[in-house]
Amino acid sequence: MRILITGGSGLIGHALTKYLVQKGHHVHWLTMQKSSKNVPDGVQTFYWNPAEGKIDDQCWNGVDALVHLAGATIAKRWTPNYKTILLESRVVSANVLYASLKKVPQHQVKHILSASGTAIYPDDNKAVYTEDSQVQSNTFLGTLVQRWEAAVDQFSKLDLPVTKVRTGVVYAREGGALEPIVQPIRWGMGAIFGSGKQMQSWIHLHDIVQLYAWLLEQGHAGVFNGVAPHAVSNKAQTKMIAHLLKRPIWLPPVPRWVMKLILGDMHELLFNDKKILPQRAMDLGFTFTYPDAQKAFENLLP
Ligand SMILES: NC(=O)c1ccc[n+]([C@@H]2O[C@H](COP(=O)([O-])OP(=O)(O)OC[C@H]3O[C@@H](n4cnc5c(N)ncnc54)[C@H](OP(=O)(O)O)[C@@H]3O)[C@@H](O)[C@H]2O)c1
Repeated sequence: MRILITGGSGLIGHALTKYLVQKGHHVHWLTMQKSSKNVPDGVQTFYWNPAEGKIDDQCWNGVDALVHLAGATIAKRWTPNYKTILLESRVVSANVLYASLKKVPQHQVKHILSASGTAIYPDDNKAVYTEDSQVQSNTFLGTLVQRWEAAVDQFSKLDLPVTKVRTGVVYAREGGALEPIVQPIRWGMGAIFGSGKQMQSWIHLHDIVQLYAWLLEQGHAGVFNGVAPHAVSNKAQTKMIAHLLKRPIWLPPVPRWVMKLILGDMHELLFNDKKILPQRAMDLGFTFTYPDAQKAFENLLP
């Protein structure tokens, strides 16, 4: 297959690219980077700047599937200005892709996949969400994800199957959220947030890469929760990491208002409380190498 990836230089995109190339697929990157530094061998790059509406329409040449991963990082203070960048880097970029593909009537694209987020599900410590859950969160991130998915859904107007991967927090050695979680524990300054009972849905980088590759190869469309089958509570996760690193947790729990003072609106990421199941992937026979956090941390730490 020939696969066009946006955001290919990011945490998921880079690992996915390497895996797909290794499997013999051809990969195109649509990237904002002008230099070819860090581009894996065998990848053909095309330039775009979605905020300026710029895109090289040649990027679609011979392409069978699009994987849209581009988006500004959420791990940065959510000022009003940055909130606009978070939203537009996902929604406007999807609009630019759609407008570009529409102009190429002879294209061979057969499948559109896009990252999405678990923030679409509202916090509820009693609910267990699957892809069939219809409730939607009205938080900033919840609304952003709804608009992101709606932008991606436009491709169905071109009669293309659309897959949305509602991804939990990705744990990896190569970057992302794990190291900032682990670092204070490594320094003996780890603490539980709030009651510590809040449930976090997460996925190992290896499994999210396998999930995208499986969705591409099987051609499955619709919503898929890109999370491990077992969510973990903040308390259990903190204790597991501390135990593996042989560090004590002696500080008292950090109240929510303190983290709000430090992180602003972004503090909600630490207090997310919902259990999400990757029901559709499991029902369709996808197997997770790291279904529980203990197994994932044993692989990723120290
Ligand atoms: N990692 C997670 O824990 C997680 C969890 C849930 C959802 N997701 C979603 O999954 C997708 C991929 O995640 P990731 O962790 O691989 O992301 P990442 O490491 O932050 O990389 C995202 C890529 O998007 C491109 N990008 C950055 N700013 C942009 C902007 N303003 N406009 C357009 N493109 C921009 C960049 O690629 P180029 O420089 O090559 O253009 C960047 O490498 C993201 O949309 C993210 O929101 C990730």
